[in-house]
Amino acid sequence: MNIVVIGAQWGDEGKGKIVDFLAGDAQAIVRYAGGANAGHTIVIGDKKYALHLVPSGILYKDKTVFLGAGMVIDPEALFTELAMLEERGIEWKGRVFISDRAHIVLPRYRELDKKHDLERKKPIGTTGRGIGITYALKCQRDSIRLADLTWEDKLAELEDEDLQFLKPYAERLLSMKTDITSEMWKLRGKNVLLEGAQGALLDLDLGSYPYVSSGISCSSGAAVGAGMGPRSIDRVLGVFKAYSTRVGNGPMPTEFDEANQSELYHFIRETGHEYGVTTGRPRRCGYLDLVALRYACRSNSIDELVLTHLDVYDTFGEIEACIAYKIDGKTTEDFPASIDELDRAEPVLKKFPGWKTSLRSCRSYEELPANAQAYIEFIEVYSGTGVGIVSVGEDRAQTFIRVNPWNSESAD
Ligand code: GDP
Ligand code: IMO
Ligand code: MG
Repeated sequence: MNIVVIGAQWGDEGKGKIVDFLAGDAQAIVRYAGGANAGHTIVIGDKKYALHLVPSGILYKDKTVFLGAGMVIDPEALFTELAMLEERGIEWKGRVFISDRAHIVLPRYRELDKKHDLERKKPIGTTGRGIGITYALKCQRDSIRLADLTWEDKLAELEDEDLQFLKPYAERLLSMKTDITSEMWKLRGKNVLLEGAQGALLDLDLGSYPYVSSGISCSSGAAVGAGMGPRSIDRVLGVFKAYSTRVGNGPMPTEFDEANQSELYHFIRETGHEYGVTTGRPRRCGYLDLVALRYACRSNSIDELVLTHLDVYDTFGEIEACIAYKIDGKTTEDFPASIDELDRAEPVLKKFPGWKTSLRSCRSYEELPANAQAYIEFIEVYSGTGVGIVSVGEDRAQTFIRVNPWNSESAD
């Protein structure tokens, strides 16, 4: 069975935590898109891991992980991450493979990325990891892939500084090279997790363009990134927070008003530890945007939602969520393509009673207070999608399943 885990908002929904949680029942885990712009956190007891390129199944000793064809890989970032894992006692050699079709990020692309973003009239606020430049060169057919590291004509096109940079990495990269289509074919009938990076609203095609990343982070990208066809995808899980966050620029209709709602803004940011894993930037915070979430469900064929960060609302007497946008006096429940319209969208908010008790030790849906259940039920009805897994804290153990995606049996 092939299960895709995507972010259903603007990234940082808790994909790393959920992939790690589900990876126990998988044989292999594939990261299918993005690069070192991602930051995926896994917490197990007093241990915390931040991964950028390596799939979140790596912490299990017996799992094979693949860096997929849709990824853009910075060798320096990759080997720094692998060294960190090794230092922390995670033996990775022999079980980390890279698609021969994955593209390589060179240091000068990182510099170009930063420069280009600063020169924009309205910067996107990229992570400065060279992501957009590498994907742009890929589209121009001027990028270099892992498979090309032994192709002399291609290497001859590179600049001296690129060759110097690649020299210490080439052999190690090539030793991890694999044909991912062939590997996925061999894994037919086994459980494979396809880990997304970024999120539905940061997807190049479906997201809030141009304020997006440059990879195919939507669920459709999973098939391409794992070298398989769309009919090989069995289920799609969409991870979302009980509220919204966004790093970088671009419209966010439900963002709290930092001046007038300073207390709320900072409470969510501090309680949810809303600081970027990759850049350390404070994340913008806002109400749950159900208009955007339903758009993500529909445009990504999400079978089940995974709700995270419900515990962040534990002390609230009342919670609000956005159920429509008002744009120029007109109400809509559709997520507009126009950035101009999204910028002008005012959220129509619905109030929900809070639960004013800690959820952090809840381990089943029945243990949740009625008001937390009612919040979840409203989300399910509005989005037309069930919430199959709930997370009530950062730890791997602070998670419970209502519908096991590996066998789709309800645990309620
Ligand atoms: P990803 O990019 O989607 O993998 O998410 P990040 O790791 O960038 O950000 C999610 C943050 O929330 C991390 O610090 C996680 O440890 C934390 N986290 C994940 N799930 C929960 C949850 O249910 N509650 C709380 N309080 N924190 C969570
Ligand atoms: P994970 O996988 C949150 C955002 C950046 C910026 C825009 C473009 O951890 O959820 P880029 O460097 O990709 O060209 O930046 O996309 N961004 C993310 N925001 N989580 C991520 O990944 C992100 N990856 C990119 O902040 O606004
Ligand atoms: Mg992240």
